[in-house]
Amino acid sequence: MNAIEITNLSKTYKGKKFSTVEALKNLNLTVGQGEIFGFLGPNGAGKSTTIKALVGLIAPTAGSATVMGVDISSHEARRHVGYLPENPAFYDYLTAEEYLAFVGKVFHLPESLLREQSERVLKLLELWEARKRPIRGYSKGMVQRVGLAQVLIHDPDVYILDEPMSGLDPVGRALVKDIMLELKARGKCVFFSTHITADVETVCDRVGIILKGELKSVEHVDKIMTEGVLGYNLRIRTRNQPELVERYVAKEDLEMVMQKLFTAGDEISLIEPSRKSLEDFFLDIVKGKIC
Ligand SMILES: Nc1ncnc2c1ncn2[C@@H]1O[C@H](COP(=O)(O)OP(=O)(O)OP(=O)(O)O)[C@@H](O)[C@H]1O
Ligand SMILES: [Mg+2]
Repeated sequence: MNAIEITNLSKTYKGKKFSTVEALKNLNLTVGQGEIFGFLGPNGAGKSTTIKALVGLIAPTAGSATVMGVDISSHEARRHVGYLPENPAFYDYLTAEEYLAFVGKVFHLPESLLREQSERVLKLLELWEARKRPIRGYSKGMVQRVGLAQVLIHDPDVYILDEPMSGLDPVGRALVKDIMLELKARGKCVFFSTHITADVETVCDRVGIILKGELKSVEHVDKIMTEGVLGYNLRIRTRNQPELVERYVAKEDLEMVMQKLFTAGDEISLIEPSRKSLEDFFLDIVKGKIC
């Protein structure tokens, strides 16, 4: 069973004086269990609209979707989901510990499991020291961490995260990536939105690029990275020269150049791919060079 299945999902917002915004146009997508999927797109592309529809916060204008086989129009679908909103805001007179207890109760966690889980996620997100302080006194990054903690508390199957790295320092970003990889290792599905390509490159299995409400491309990140190799930078020590020599070789010439070097008895100390990054791939789509 796929973790997420989206079929012909569309959303048109109605504005003032009969104006409309087609925020999402006929989106089709499936995401598997044990997969980390990056939903990449510029501002206003339709990422949050998709996510809000998946978690039942807005009703799609057309189309349907399921989470762990359950239609998103059913409350039952919510049981399977941990959702991090784009700008998380909580009852800020509560402490992080109290807020997690509230979320745990909403998901009917037994008292002992709730206590155990609460301690685990507060420590994981480095909120343990601050757990008895009201959230209103937290920094921006700490509030984001509370958002991530409440996602993890009931150990759902599917994690739908709207810009999870937003507002986090480099240590926090690395922590979120580690958490995602650990979830994947346990067979969970992570679907997250971002406009930062580096975050996708390091953790995602696949990436979907959305632009003006249309899904333009869905690709395996590995494939983009391999096909993006344009050539190689070689570092060579020749038989006659003690110093290392650097040389760029085009992708199609590598085999021939290597043969020549071996025949000549030269030593290759480094082969480094020179590649088009995911950022280049993304920008090509945004600028309309691909699709
Ligand atoms: N409640 C709303 N009413 C009217 N238009 C809306 C509403 N919410 C979103 N939109 C419009 O829908 C489009 C998609 O917005 P959405 O929030 O999904 O983008 P996004 O990809 O999440 O962008 P960002 O990266 O800035 O968060 C935008 O044109 C936005 O103005
Ligand atoms: Mg958004």
